[in-house]
Amino acid sequence: MILVVGGTGRLGRAVVPLLLAAGHKVRVMARGSSQPFPRTAADGVELFRGDLGSEADCREAVAGCTDVVFAASGFGAKDTDHRTVDRDGAIRLIHAAAAAGVQHMVMMSMHGAAPDGPIEYLRCKAAAEDALRSSGMDWTIIRLGALLEQRLEIMGAPLGRNGKVPVFGSGTAPVTYTAVQDAAAVVVRALRDPALRNRIIDWGSQTLTSNQMVEALVARAGHGSVQRIPVAAVRVLSVAARPFSPFLARIAGAAVWEDSGAASFQFGPARDEFPDIPVAGLQQVLEGTEPGTGRSSH
Ligand SMILES: NC(=O)c1ccc[n+]([C@@H]2O[C@H](COP(=O)([O-])OP(=O)(O)OC[C@H]3O[C@@H](n4cnc5c(N)ncnc54)[C@H](OP(=O)(O)O)[C@@H]3O)[C@@H](O)[C@H]2O)c1
Repeated sequence: MILVVGGTGRLGRAVVPLLLAAGHKVRVMARGSSQPFPRTAADGVELFRGDLGSEADCREAVAGCTDVVFAASGFGAKDTDHRTVDRDGAIRLIHAAAAAGVQHMVMMSMHGAAPDGPIEYLRCKAAAEDALRSSGMDWTIIRLGALLEQRLEIMGAPLGRNGKVPVFGSGTAPVTYTAVQDAAAVVVRALRDPALRNRIIDWGSQTLTSNQMVEALVARAGHGSVQRIPVAAVRVLSVAARPFSPFLARIAGAAVWEDSGAASFQFGPARDEFPDIPVAGLQQVLEGTEPGTGRSSH
């Protein structure tokens, strides 16, 4: 049995069917709060409505599992945050999994994770990585870039409403993105391939500037223009929004980080090692999304 924590999220939803197709039994854990929780389970799937904030839920979630995939996050949720989920929840789950005899955990992390990272999310991810590395279990840490589909959805939604695509900052900074299917494929590979045990792997699909993303979205929709938000305003927002919208404040903080150019990375060496995992780039992802919204059409 493989536990997928955050199995109702964007990446988790892509991982679960791949695991089923590979013949695994899967347990999905989520709160049913920021994402809809399925009413009925597909064949081979056990649904567990639980909260990483609860030790008892973590113990129940890992019981009988050989492997765990950590694909939960509080970063993009309005009702929780990365400290609660990506750091404290992950560490609570790691302790429960090690105590229950889980053999291997695959942890979704982010490029740039470091104890002294410039944004708190990266520091939270580093704390979870450290806990996993010292847990005694086998581990794989997959550091992703921003998920491409999510970014297209965020940029594409206003295009559908008012014909504008918002760009924070200059739009010229390179950012490495990871496509969801691409990330899901390496998760499944990590569960079966010893070459990915006890390693940190930087997994990206394509490096793009926001201006390139806008160009592609506008070309696909056949209309639209850019709405530029100067980086100075975004920096102010990242602090000023904290008391009334911590969610907005952290999105703005991440945008400032991206504008610095630090969110691009070399993913070639990892891709060269696993050439059989197809790379899904902007064009492939756009072909699977609705023009003018960026939402998946599947
Ligand atoms: N999105 C990105 O750009 C990005 C970039 C780098 C790394 N990552 C990492 O990749 C993984 C997948 O990201 P994603 O964007 O697919 O996530 P997502 O769509 O935001 O989904 C998050 C999942 O976590 C669950 N969750 C949140 N709080 C929870 C809690 N307290 N207990 C149990 N489950 C909880 C959510 O369901 P409920 O809220 O209903 O519980 C949902 O299933 C995450 O670990 C994330 O940190 C993402």
